Amino acid sequence: MDLNAAREKLAKYGQEHLLRYYETLTESEKESLLNEIEATDFSVLEAFSESPEAASQGQVFEPLGAVTIEEIQAREAEFRAAGLEAIKACKTGAVLLAGGQGTRLGFDHPKGMYNMGLTRDLFIFECHMKQLLKVSEEAGALIPLYVMTSDLNHDETVAFFEEHSYFGYDPAFIRFFRQDMAPCTDLQGKVLMKSRSSLALSPNGNGGWFHSLKNAGLLEDVHKKGIEYLSVFAVDNVLQKIQDPCFVGATLLSGVNDGAMVVSKAEPEERIGVICKRNGRPSVVEYYEITEDMKTLRDENGTLLYNYGVILNYLFKVSKLEEIVDMKMPVHFAKKKIPYMAEDGTLIKPEEPNGYKYELLVVDMVELTGTCLPFEVDRTKAFAPVKNATGVDSVESARALLSKNGVVL
Ligand code: UTP
Repeated sequence: MDLNAAREKLAKYGQEHLLRYYETLTESEKESLLNEIEATDFSVLEAFSESPEAASQGQVFEPLGAVTIEEIQAREAEFRAAGLEAIKACKTGAVLLAGGQGTRLGFDHPKGMYNMGLTRDLFIFECHMKQLLKVSEEAGALIPLYVMTSDLNHDETVAFFEEHSYFGYDPAFIRFFRQDMAPCTDLQGKVLMKSRSSLALSPNGNGGWFHSLKNAGLLEDVHKKGIEYLSVFAVDNVLQKIQDPCFVGATLLSGVNDGAMVVSKAEPEERIGVICKRNGRPSVVEYYEITEDMKTLRDENGTLLYNYGVILNYLFKVSKLEEIVDMKMPVHFAKKKIPYMAEDGTLIKPEEPNGYKYELLVVDMVELTGTCLPFEVDRTKAFAPVKNATGVDSVESARALLSKNGVVL
């Protein structure tokens, strides 16, 4: 991209200030800045000027049930057999979402490198690889795994897997890919700079995973292997039942475009996205969007009407993902502490949130795919998120749940 084209692109989004040091740069810095401007998708910034109230107007929510634990137990043999058959026939692959920055945990490395062990090593990545191995052994076929990283943690993640001999998995079945990055802005919506020749960028959220997988050229690999369904899961749930054969079987037998593992809400106020119908389509209403009524309404048995929380474990039909991959997804922005370059050229690491990060979310893919089977799991056996250093959803609470499930720490 040349300077004029860069000027034109930036002017479209009101971001011309990004070229203010251009004339002071060396030739190679100039080139690198222009390349970064060319590669950056500034259209996510349009979210900044859209009012969230306007976006949510005219939306009609209805409850959406799930196939319950009791129903699953009654049909377990049928679901398990169907799931194992698909896994054995290599129709399924798994995608580990590990591109996040894990800022709440405050750990200075990729979250998957966190050691949950107390008397021995038990890394978060290792918990997931053990689960994948367990299912692969049961099915009699290794499940291909795609690991999404970001520019900020890619090398460290790849090196960690290598150092630990891929935790006993065959490396030929593991592919790593980087997710796309998005610009960060100050509180007025102006893109921040990291240096005179680079922008402040952050991973563009977990909802861009299929787009990034495709960009990385890995869709060809998916096709070559004959994979028809991809399960997607968060790195931070150390009890994550990835590719649980019953879940895979139930989703496939029901003929939907995706399955979503869900848990019954612990209490009306729990901060968890809830699966529901939005304007007739399956969707997830985030904890900060849900109304008081939706939080507390109960059915005749006393169960919450909006009862099922999502735990970031989905199984998507690949052909449907290919249909929606270029559709516009909502962009969410959140106030965060963003390192930036001050006027005098020094890099500032703010103590308080100073700007916004822009992200796409997996939950929004549920609505785009159109049909979804919520599949209930027991939260004490399948949901132990490590989000915070202490308190709720912390290392401590996840360790307690691991112990309760017989895992030696
Ligand atoms: P979170 O929403 O908890 O975000 O990610 P985070 O960045 O890891 O943590 P905080 O908010 O900074 O503390 C849920 C899952 O989505 C992945 C994370 O790695 C985690 O598995 N994720 C998140 C990505 O892969 N890319 C992203 O850009 C964001």
